[in-house]
Amino acid sequence: MELPWGMLLPLLLVLSVSSPSSSSAAATLAVTAPPPLPVPPPRHAQDAEGMLINGNFETAPRRLNKTLIVGRHSLPGWTVQGHVEYVSGGPQPGGMFFAVPHGVHALRLGSRASASQNVTVRPGALYALTFAATRTCAQDEALRVAVAPSLSAPADVAVRTLYSGASADTWAWGFRASSPVAQVTFANPGVQEDPACGPLLDAVAIKELPAPYPTKDNLIKNDGFEIGPQVLRNSTVGVLLPPKQKDATSPLPGWIIESLKAVRFIDAAHFSVPAGQYAVELVAGRESAIAQVIRTVPNRAYNLSFAVGDARNGCHGSMLVEAFAGNVTQKVPFDSAGKGGFKTAAFRFVAGGVRTRLTFYSSYYHTKVTDGVSLCGPVLDQVKVVPVKA
Ligand SMILES: *[C@@H]1O[C@H](CO)[C@@H](O)[C@H](O)[C@H]1NC(C)=O
Ligand SMILES: *[C@@H]1O[C@H](CO)[C@@H](O)[C@H](O)[C@H]1NC(C)=O
Ligand SMILES: *[C@@H]1O[C@H](CO)[C@@H](O)[C@H](O)[C@H]1NC(C)=O
Ligand SMILES: *[C@@H]1O[C@H](CO)[C@@H](O)[C@H](O)[C@H]1NC(C)=O
Ligand SMILES: *[C@@H]1O[C@H](CO)[C@@H](O)[C@H](O)[C@H]1NC(C)=O
Repeated sequence: MELPWGMLLPLLLVLSVSSPSSSSAAATLAVTAPPPLPVPPPRHAQDAEGMLINGNFETAPRRLNKTLIVGRHSLPGWTVQGHVEYVSGGPQPGGMFFAVPHGVHALRLGSRASASQNVTVRPGALYALTFAATRTCAQDEALRVAVAPSLSAPADVAVRTLYSGASADTWAWGFRASSPVAQVTFANPGVQEDPACGPLLDAVAIKELPAPYPTKDNLIKNDGFEIGPQVLRNSTVGVLLPPKQKDATSPLPGWIIESLKAVRFIDAAHFSVPAGQYAVELVAGRESAIAQVIRTVPNRAYNLSFAVGDARNGCHGSMLVEAFAGNVTQKVPFDSAGKGGFKTAAFRFVAGGVRTRLTFYSSYYHTKVTDGVSLCGPVLDQVKVVPVKA
């Protein structure tokens, strides 16, 4: 890290203010202005929510030209490049409305602009980044997430307004660390006519995810979706998990997210969840499936069971979850009045080989009755596979 002291002091202040557990040593250090010391390694000032340093952008840049951030190191905690604006939520000149989910400030990443921060991580461990994103101009804007070095390739998250209506969407992205310091970069890969155009970024948090294992009672890993990304405390929209996630680096460990659209990770504090604290909502019909590959004994029979319900989020109607395992397809109907509730389905399948893929998706498309546009769908939880005794 190449931070001058002028940069480091505010960082330490941020650390000592935002983290109740930070030591008084850090506070003393910041207040008494010590002689220059070797620059310490980067750290993430994780509060209970795992927020990065100034991860909600509430500490203002030191230099601004109107809303444009001036100087690469002017924004505490972050290094910015290109046209990056420091914006406040609410109605904007030009008629847009920026929904800022956490606090009142956010970054707007213009054409090819980026913001990055170094975080300390454990090599080999899996992490999920949680962040809020909203489009500001075009129909389709993208936010590129990259972590270097890491064992995960950069990915583009399509920032649309399909999922949460007027609110900003919150996304998660998983990566596996390969060295003790990881540079996390959010960039706008697009070029628009107006160089200021680009997605809003807010509320960036990180969480280390334990490796999931099958148990002797269940061949499914992370069977109740209890291991997953950080859900921001005040966020009522859940966390979207982008498509094309492999099980090894998925923000939902053990699970593959297939197809073209996201699935939503939902929490018991804001949604109806069949069991535990978390579940997934299949929000995009046949365009988003969730799958897991398990080890099986060829020609052996297994019993697959799972819970299907609704999230109590205004998603009404006849729902249908299709499950595929071995040589069997099962369709499980669920009638939702949007009030929460679930039922358990079970069926027997015979494994064709040493690995069997289980896949779940929603047969129908649903939107919330409140706005008619936000995607929603059936909830899946408590997935269980056990061998059937001969
Ligand atoms: C972050 O770490 C990379 C090396 O991984 C280094 O090149 C870069 O200068 C660091 N950035 C900051 C802001 O410390
Ligand atoms: C602020 O930005 C405007 C427009 O890009 C530019 O003309 C002006 O020189 C800038 N002011 C400063 C103090 O950098
Ligand atoms: C969460 O919401 C409560 C009540 O609206 C507010 O007091 C608190 O500051 C918020 N916390 C965060 C981290 O935004
Ligand atoms: C399959 O599992 C379900 C749920 O655990 C259970 O109710 C059912 O009896 C099981 N069926 C068989 C054939 O084992
Ligand atoms: C699946 O395989 C088992 C055993 O080979 C067989 O009894 C069963 O009928 C098959 N089910 C389907 C739907 O093909």
